[in-house]
Amino acid sequence: MAQGANLTADELWAKLEAAKDSKSLLKKHLTKTLFDSNKDKVSKFKGTLADCMRSGCMNPDSGVGIYASDPDAYTTFAEVLDPVIKDYHKVDSLNHPKPDFGDVDNLGFGDLDPSGELIVSTRVRVGRSHASYGFPPVLTKEDRVEMERKTVAALETLKGELAGEYNPLTGMTADKQKQLTDDHFLFNDSDRFLREAGGYNDWPTGRGIFFSSNKKFLVWVNEEDHLRFISMQMGGNLGEVYTRLVKAIKALESSGLEFAKKDNLGYLTFCPSNLGTTLRASVHIKIPKLAAQPDFKEFCDKLNIQARGIHGEHTESVGGVYDISNKRRLGLTEIQALQEMRTGVEE
Ligand code: ARG
Repeated sequence: MAQGANLTADELWAKLEAAKDSKSLLKKHLTKTLFDSNKDKVSKFKGTLADCMRSGCMNPDSGVGIYASDPDAYTTFAEVLDPVIKDYHKVDSLNHPKPDFGDVDNLGFGDLDPSGELIVSTRVRVGRSHASYGFPPVLTKEDRVEMERKTVAALETLKGELAGEYNPLTGMTADKQKQLTDDHFLFNDSDRFLREAGGYNDWPTGRGIFFSSNKKFLVWVNEEDHLRFISMQMGGNLGEVYTRLVKAIKALESSGLEFAKKDNLGYLTFCPSNLGTTLRASVHIKIPKLAAQPDFKEFCDKLNIQARGIHGEHTESVGGVYDISNKRRLGLTEIQALQEMRTGVEE
């Protein structure tokens, strides 16, 4: 249960104010004036500023510190969210281009590591939100169940290599859950940032994972976002992984689901860090010596890439293997976001 669930906007503000050392983007951009003029607003989905700021106030060590309560929060609380979005994605103004996945039949690259010595695995994901539902802080148990049902109906229309089976978390054996988590397929309920944002309310109801039969395409249902489409495989063949994902996105876009979008922000996601293309392309790569250099963080920042541990965000590296991905998702096209990651990994 989220500890801050019952705190009012003023109580949350007091916590943020007391957190003098917080380096979050919420702390940096939410002034008292902005707080006061926004704290009583309510979005079309009944989301409040308290819903958006709860996680960042309860976790002052957040990097971002704010989530959108629902798709309309990006309009209702634009004064608060826009500066955070610009800062995170390193853009001066909010103009997101139309989707452009590039020419997947002529990408001009395939395997980033033909030797097979450095790259352990490759993964590309995007997030999507159902246009007619809010995000975790405003969702009910019934909403989650309904969204799951609509999602599964769409997933059942997938054909060929993408066709597969949905596995709800409810009723899944502990053994199966552990195996899937160890193999980097499944998510769990251990992220304290997401928990405070309401991301684990009614856990595990309405959550699950869809697999294609070769397990190279999967869909997370009601993890952080309503939907996460994931393409992954062992080795470094980014071309294959990306092409599969693009096919899946196109197929699911024509399956009757309507996704939340906004002109200047692209696809809308729960966390402002994922807006725009929502695309995160990553490799698990063995770089023990490079990562031990004192300027490794600077090196990554310069290339707009991010290094994480291999068990997901906020985890440590194991044996010098790092998860390297593009950091920016907004203000560039899908193929450009992918190319930023490719350039960074090649470097
Ligand atoms: N809210 C967390 C923070 O501010 C996570 C932000 C980005 N990660 C994510 N999974 N949305 O540090």
